[in-house]
Amino acid sequence: MRSYFWLGNGTLKVPLALFALNRKRLLERLRASKDVQKNSIVLLQGGEELQRYCTDTGIIFRQESFFHWAFGVTEADCYGAIDVDTGKSILFVPKLPESYAVWMGKIQPPEYFRKKYEVDEVHYTAEISSVLVSRKPSFLLTLRGVNTDSGNVSKEASFEGISQFQVNNTILHPEIVECRVVKTDLELEVLRYSNRISSEAHKEVMKAAKVGMKEYELESLFLHYCYKRGGMRHTSYTCICGSGDNSSVLHYGHAGAPNDKTIADGDLCLFDMGGEYYCYGSDITCTFPANGKFTADQKAIYEAVLHSSRAVMKAVKPGVHWPDMHRLADRVHLEELTKFGLLKGNVDDMVKVHLGAIFMPHGLGHLLGIDVHDVGGYPEGTERSGKPGLKSLRIARDLQEGMVLTIEPGIYFIDHVLDQALADPAQSCFINNDVLQRFRGFGGVRIEDDIAVTATGMELLTCVPRTVEEIENLLAGNKDATKSAEPLASQQF
Ligand code: GLY
Ligand code: MN
Ligand code: MN
Repeated sequence: MRSYFWLGNGTLKVPLALFALNRKRLLERLRASKDVQKNSIVLLQGGEELQRYCTDTGIIFRQESFFHWAFGVTEADCYGAIDVDTGKSILFVPKLPESYAVWMGKIQPPEYFRKKYEVDEVHYTAEISSVLVSRKPSFLLTLRGVNTDSGNVSKEASFEGISQFQVNNTILHPEIVECRVVKTDLELEVLRYSNRISSEAHKEVMKAAKVGMKEYELESLFLHYCYKRGGMRHTSYTCICGSGDNSSVLHYGHAGAPNDKTIADGDLCLFDMGGEYYCYGSDITCTFPANGKFTADQKAIYEAVLHSSRAVMKAVKPGVHWPDMHRLADRVHLEELTKFGLLKGNVDDMVKVHLGAIFMPHGLGHLLGIDVHDVGGYPEGTERSGKPGLKSLRIARDLQEGMVLTIEPGIYFIDHVLDQALADPAQSCFINNDVLQRFRGFGGVRIEDDIAVTATGMELLTCVPRTVEEIENLLAGNKDATKSAEPLASQQF
């Protein structure tokens, strides 16, 4: 009998075969590598159960991403080994104290985990050393590498007795990262699901949004919908629910700015929220007017961003260099802002002084998967640009079929950045300051969709109203507005 991860109701059934396939792909790469010795064993350490500071209050556990990718195990404090030559998989689970049976529930035997996770063997973590010694590995391949977004180093597997083994901690990380960059069809199904549920949740939020509400009321509705309808206990990142000027704060919603403003008449709402199912995420931003109607200025800026989003979607296909897509989005923004009268002069000259980064200081998009900013954007040897805007890109690669990315252009009016531009004659000469004054306190617009690169173009995973008309219809309670967004999901660009 095959095993699935499934939370009942209408949630997605995910076959555990997804992880067997991930392991198989990893082994193919390792076997092809001249650096891997015969009889090597991959050893990964799973995430650890944590408590709040010095208390005994548990923090809801979420699996470490590499370990999840390889084993799909939802429990904490495990290890996993894969014999590179034979492909045999071994899971190590903690031997739980008897008190567990009283406080936490039934203690399951190793055989339960063997069937649940479709691995070849299960042993207790206390037995790692003896189990591995009996296999006489030439090397244990452990995971050590830098995350190119955070700069943090992955936690390398370690256990009592590891000093008796030869350990190589450099081979595994780049190989497993390359595997994670390209998604299998089984993984894509989960990402489609996360996107579908999160898109529906965004539509619920938009329909419920009213002037006078707190931003966090809408955050709570998103979380509720994702969990109740989608079985998503986690989001991929902290919800960003900025209204008015807060919509220009790129990562608003943190503890110092916890989505606690009252939404005012005339505010734009920029809501960037994504649910996560079985650790596979989504990352979606909708921008809409709180009172249901875009002003002329809001419509102009919104449509400028929508133009760049759609221009990028038309251009995306295998072989395209992602930084060129960022440049394309910048150019469309500059052209649109010039047509609108906020900028003046020659767009090529604006590009030379990086004017696009004044309005879009972040990167156009990033890889998405088990992590919202998924790994692999800068493989060894890939340079990070030092140029404004481009330096914030989390990926600087050519696109490949099977990559999943966000496309998230935005135009923001950030006082700090605008003041710097106005103080620089090379940039201020392109800005119509009298028009710009109207946009002080305007906030910003971001349109963020998730896409999968196909053989000939891309598949749009996100399914929310995008045109001004679709958004205004949805906000007016017109049910057709949700329908009109539907065909976009299957649209091939
Ligand atoms: N939600 C974070 C981002 O858009 O990258
Ligand atoms: Mn986002
Ligand atoms: Mn994003």
